[in-house]
Amino acid sequence: MSEQIKLNIGLFGFGVVGESLWRVLQQNASLSAAVSKVCIKHADKKRNAPAALFTSNAAELLNDDSINVIVELIDDADAAYAIVTTALKSGKAVVSANKKLIAEHLGELLALQEQHNVPFLYEAACCASIPVIRNLEEYYDNDLLQSISGIVNGSTNYILTRIAEQGLCFADALQLAKEKGFAESDPSLDIQGTDAANKLTILLAHAYGIVTDPGQVTHTGICNIDKADSRYAKEKGYEIKLVAHAGKLEDGSVAAYVLPQFLDKSSPLFHIKDEYNGVVIESGLADRQFFNGKGAGGFPTASAVISDLSALRYRYKYEYKKLYNYSPSSLSDDFYLHIYVSVDAGIDIPGGQFERITEWWGNQLRTYITGVIHFAKLKNATWWKRSGVSLIVLPDGIVPSAQKELYEQDALLPV
Ligand SMILES: NC(=O)c1ccc[n+]([C@@H]2O[C@H](COP(=O)([O-])OP(=O)(O)OC[C@H]3O[C@@H](n4cnc5c(N)ncnc54)[C@H](OP(=O)(O)O)[C@@H]3O)[C@@H](O)[C@H]2O)c1
Repeated sequence: MSEQIKLNIGLFGFGVVGESLWRVLQQNASLSAAVSKVCIKHADKKRNAPAALFTSNAAELLNDDSINVIVELIDDADAAYAIVTTALKSGKAVVSANKKLIAEHLGELLALQEQHNVPFLYEAACCASIPVIRNLEEYYDNDLLQSISGIVNGSTNYILTRIAEQGLCFADALQLAKEKGFAESDPSLDIQGTDAANKLTILLAHAYGIVTDPGQVTHTGICNIDKADSRYAKEKGYEIKLVAHAGKLEDGSVAAYVLPQFLDKSSPLFHIKDEYNGVVIESGLADRQFFNGKGAGGFPTASAVISDLSALRYRYKYEYKKLYNYSPSSLSDDFYLHIYVSVDAGIDIPGGQFERITEWWGNQLRTYITGVIHFAKLKNATWWKRSGVSLIVLPDGIVPSAQKELYEQDALLPV
């Protein structure tokens, strides 16, 4: 058995997650990991820990040769980039929870790990307490992984649950989420789907070896979900969830998007409420597996950081097997999606964009359409991102391309 490394930690950030981590490490001497210094931003803030532990000078941690691990838990992705890259270049192992930093700089961070032969672990960055990255790395072989779908953002799931269960409008549900501490004071990254797209970008690397820019992942959030959409969901027995999806197409390429989706009871994600996250993985042999857990919060997130620290003691590194050991997959926009669109009175739905329309109805306030659309058309269009338009994927989601000819023959249909 290989000898365990003793971890001497330089911790950046003493907020919700940083302080929780420090508390757990204080109480668990068996982890062989001690925080020797904490760097924070505001030196004069009162802390629930000895004053000698703190500094606001990053160099004190980064230049200290006795510190062999940097744990980066700050809320500023640009400052985090400087901290993480400096630490990796100086040969220190790094643990981070910062999905924005990781997704936006994944290519460079991969290169730094290779170049300096240092581990960089970030389980907490995707779904906090749910161990999805390590499972994708270690358990699922490239050829067997058919799809990964998840509710990966707790704030939006809380808002959607309150809309569905209390009949609140989006603005009131967002306000409630802020009051309960489930949404940040600037919730834009969450409600516009950017946070989920960042997480999907990270998952794509570990699931399929795809390294892409989060801006290339088609995504939208939940700001345009209307009460009328909620009523439609109720009538049909659906729940509306913001779903991050990546799945293999028939030709081996990968479809990926973050979009609101109607789910029926047969989906395990249907049952994920409030701030919880859920991930469904489908694979050839294991069939369907489902992870459910807390996607946010101090201790749940710290649990993933602790798991990374524990792995570091045994010199664990991500191998990015799907990227380096197999031929990585590539993203494709060549597939068909079954969608629902509802719009305020006065807004036209471009029916000609659809391969086939399955239903079209309306009243004085709103017009509705369901139909099949080619994903590339959706990706390149902006009409569905306007205010007053909500687009929600129907439960069957991606339509098999075997039916493509049928859609072409039936092709539609004037507005
Ligand atoms: N909270 C969650 O549930 C959760 C879940 C998953 C992932 N994460 C990720 O974990 C990270 C930390 O989140 P959090 O909720 O713990 O944030 P937070 O409560 O807002 O705390 C942020 C901490 O970062 C410190 N900080 C900010 N800029 C700094 C800088 N330039 N140098 C040193 N310290 C700096 C702040 O210092 P002061 O105390 O002096 O202000 C504060 O201690 C983020 O990347 C977040 O996305 C959080």
